[in-house]
Amino acid sequence: MAILEIRKFPDKILRQQAQPVADITDPERKLIQDMFDTMCFAKGVGLAAPQVGISKRIIVCNPTGEEADGLAIINPRIIYRKGRKVKDCEGCLSIPTLTAEVARFTIIGVVGKDPAGKNISLEARDLLARIIDHETDHLNGTLFIDKIGFLKRKMLVGRYKKKVGITCVGRWY
Ligand code: CO
Repeated sequence: MAILEIRKFPDKILRQQAQPVADITDPERKLIQDMFDTMCFAKGVGLAAPQVGISKRIIVCNPTGEEADGLAIINPRIIYRKGRKVKDCEGCLSIPTLTAEVARFTIIGVVGKDPAGKNISLEARDLLARIIDHETDHLNGTLFIDKIGFLKRKMLVGRYKKKVGITCVGRWY
């Protein structure tokens, strides 16, 4: 068990396109276990590998915190989004203290591989759909603050900068 350091916004790795995983071997499985441990320790419901400094297409989620509900997806690909677009309050372990209402579809279809290397295909709804969408966004360098209005983002990021003591000026948000 290892608790990894969670990279915080505006760390550049959070803005990179993560690389597909070619082979799922023991190092990848160890990383996935560490990601579960780190997510659980941080009381999060989802985590993407770039958030722990590894630019690879791996996500873990757990909407309930029950061990049986843990889900890891390697090379996740969202193949459809449907249902209604619903706004709900979202946060991110890489942007602590900041939350905002984000609109996402209530149903998504996702394909990828599990830690054993088997193909998986599932339809997720509601909170799980929201988490998978949020975490898959991380693999493309997208953060939830990109999905809210510009003025709201400017205000929230300004507040975040003050809170975490960032004094640099720049258009990194
Ligand atoms: Co996040």
